[in-house]
Amino acid sequence: MKIVETIAEVRAQVKQWRQEGLTVGFVPTMGYLHEGHLSLIERARRENDRVAVSIFVNPTQFGPNEDLASYPRDLEHDAALCEGVGTDLIFHPEPAEMYPEGFCSYVDMDVLTQELCGLSRPVHFRGVCTVVSKLFHIVQPDRAYFGEKDAQQLAVIKRMVQDLNMDLEVIGCPIVREEDGLAKSSRNTYLSPEERRAALVLSRSIAEGRKLAESGETDAEKLVQAMRAVIAEEPLARIDYVKVVDLLTMQQISRLDRPFLAAMAVYIGKTRLIDNFMMETGGAGTCC
Ligand code: PAF
Repeated sequence: MKIVETIAEVRAQVKQWRQEGLTVGFVPTMGYLHEGHLSLIERARRENDRVAVSIFVNPTQFGPNEDLASYPRDLEHDAALCEGVGTDLIFHPEPAEMYPEGFCSYVDMDVLTQELCGLSRPVHFRGVCTVVSKLFHIVQPDRAYFGEKDAQQLAVIKRMVQDLNMDLEVIGCPIVREEDGLAKSSRNTYLSPEERRAALVLSRSIAEGRKLAESGETDAEKLVQAMRAVIAEEPLARIDYVKVVDLLTMQQISRLDRPFLAAMAVYIGKTRLIDNFMMETGGAGTCC
């Protein structure tokens, strides 16, 4: 496994793979890898001849009062994990490699970014779209893999690839959870033992919403109220949002009569956590 820091080195490696007729799978990450990331790399490994992983804490997707400085980093540990699941190349650039002096071009999106996390994190998706499109241009993968935990990010990236005619397939992979239900996240490391226990309220609320939807409830507001009621029982939890949106457009819906996403962002102490479930067929259909 190679670890490189420059765009030129990535391009040279990918060019060589292309000359050998090999396919390339790509997993963009911000590092501090956990089983959720590893499940993406493993899938990329199964579906491609070569696998590239980027590890880059992207400054443009953090707002001024967010956790850019404290975001956890551990390249040595990440590299060992990547190697263990068969990664061929890690791209670990310095911020100046991605955003050199004078950088002023961004990729932005309407509609899909104007709900859910886009409302509470106004610069977030511009930063995500910009860095992901740069990474796609640098790596030029056949397939790129993203977790469904960041469901809005996945929808935004799929839309960006479609709208900007990028020549790759974007693949969403299921949420990986701890044994007790908490969705895996690099930010879980911020939680104190007491907060870690309190954080289970997210997956309990998701389970409640899913149960209601599977039982045939078609009123989105009833789903939201049931999910909020579970969170309200936990004193350490403060809701940012709990919403039900159309799976493709990310716009709020009142009836569960189409593929939808039920998503939440909840503060546990100072840590903002997200979780969700999706249903492809609307009420009483199959969950994913
Ligand atoms: O999901 C993430 O870790 C990041 O948003 C991504 C896609 C790597 C872009 O920085």
